[in-house]
This record gives sequence, structure tokens and C-alpha cells, in this order.
Amino acid sequence: MLIVRTIAEARAALRELRARGLSVGLVPTMGALHEGHLSLVRAARAACDDHPGGVVVVSIFVNPKQFGPNEDFAKYPRTFEADMAALEREGVDLIFAPAAEEMYPQGATAFVEVAGVSGRLDGASRPGHFRGVATVVAKLFNIIEPDKAFFGQKDAAQVAVLKKMVDELNFGLELVACPIVREPDGLAMSSRNRYLSAEERRQALVLSRAVREVERLAAGGVTESSELIAAAEAVLAEEPEVRVDYCKVVDPDTLEDVADTQHGALFAVAAFVGTTRLIDNLVLPTRA
Ligand code: PAF
Repeated sequence: MLIVRTIAEARAALRELRARGLSVGLVPTMGALHEGHLSLVRAARAACDDHPGGVVVVSIFVNPKQFGPNEDFAKYPRTFEADMAALEREGVDLIFAPAAEEMYPQGATAFVEVAGVSGRLDGASRPGHFRGVATVVAKLFNIIEPDKAFFGQKDAAQVAVLKKMVDELNFGLELVACPIVREPDGLAMSSRNRYLSAEERRQALVLSRAVREVERLAAGGVTESSELIAAAEAVLAEEPEVRVDYCKVVDPDTLEDVADTQHGALFAVAAFVGTTRLIDNLVLPTRA
């Protein structure tokens, strides 16, 4: 497993691999890896291992541009040694782990903005967040030039923003969204789960309970968004200390509210458990 820190090194390594005809799968991360990230690595390996084979690249970069001034950039978990060991076990070929100055040299002012969709769901609560995400992911795409890039569906709004960016800016790659990975008790895996105290960890389960309730009602034929939202809010109210940020049924591409889920929709919830902001969601397929 090769670990590179500079853009020049990453480009040189990839040029050599691509010259051998290998396809490239990229898993962008901010480190603090958990099973959710490793599921992306496995998906990349499976998708890129066709003839004549492929390479899996993982980037590890805690991107300062996607954190607001009062957010958790400084305390975001940095677990480089453990991350390296996990990626080595998964047979990853290349790690790109740049310093902030490598990605954003002094004086850099260029950014990528996917207007509209970037201001919805998490973008509404975290102004500038998706501009930071789109900018760093565009840079990673330009540096690594992957054939496919893998993201977790837990960050459904991020997936919507990045799909639109790939489409409208003509990046020549396929963006693959992989299913949410959950703890045995239902909690969606997240690097931020490690902030939770034991009591908060218990309270946090209310998010996946709300998701399951929406899933149950949808399976039973309920398609009215207001009914699904009311049921989810009733579940969320079981934990009065959990502060709901949003609880919505939206179009999965535009993230705009939809009144009905007949044509496919996304149920998405975000809530603060203590000071930790957690998200969860469910894709509601089109009803035949
Ligand atoms: O999902 C994440 O971990 C980050 O938003 C990403 C895509 C690595 C960009 O920094």
C-alpha cells in the first residue's frame, strides 16, 4: 500500500498504474474510518476488479472548507494509524493524505458551488458546507481522475449535490452511492458517533427508530409525506432531549419537499443529540 502526501506524487503513481490499463476507484474520506467506509472500499474493489484489474485509492483529508466557524473541525477525530491498518487489511493500493496547505495553497480563491440543491437539508443548516464539499471533491476528481467514485448514502444530500456537480461539470466518472451501514441496534455508522456519551448513544437510536417507522408505513402503502413526517416526528418526540434539525420527505435529486412518495422520494432526518449532529435517511422507491 503506497501512501502519498502530495498532488505530484499522487499523479505520478496513478499515471503509472493507468499506463498498465488499470481502472481506478476512489473512496474520498475524512479518516476516522468505520465499517461504513470499509463497505465503500469493498464496493470499489468489487467494481474495479474487472479485466485487466483495478486499483483502489482512498483519500484521507479533513477538509477545513466544509466546516462552519462553530463546527467541530478542531475536534474531528484523526486516527491515521488505525485508518492505515484497516486500509492495509482491505488491500487498498494507494492512500492520498495531503496536508491542508497542499490542497489549499495560500491565496487560493477558486471554489465549486452547486446552487439550489446545496442550500437544502444539511445545506440549509450548515451554510457553505456543500460548497466546501463540492470544491474538495472536484479537486480530488481532478487529481486522481477516477473511473468510479464511491460515497455513502447516509450523506444523501451530499450524494445529490455531487451527482449534480458530476453531471453539470462533465466529470468523466461514475458516482456510486452505497447503502447505509448500521450498528447491530440500528444506529447509522458515523465518525461522529464517537462523540456520544453512553446516554446520548442510547438517545441517538431514536433516529433509526423514526426511519424504521417510515419504512413500516411506506411498506403498508402510505404515500402521503405529511403522514410519514408526522409519524416520524412522533417517534422523535420519544426523546425530548434530542433536538430535531429537519425531518422531511424530499425529491432525492433536487432535495425539494414532495407531497407524495408515489414517484420515489427520500425521507431524511437530522437531529442534535447533545452537541452532536447526526443524520439518517431512507430511500422510498417509486410505487408501481
Ligand atoms: O463524506 C465525507 O467524508 C466528506 O464530505 C468528503 C466526501 C470526504 C469530502 O470531504
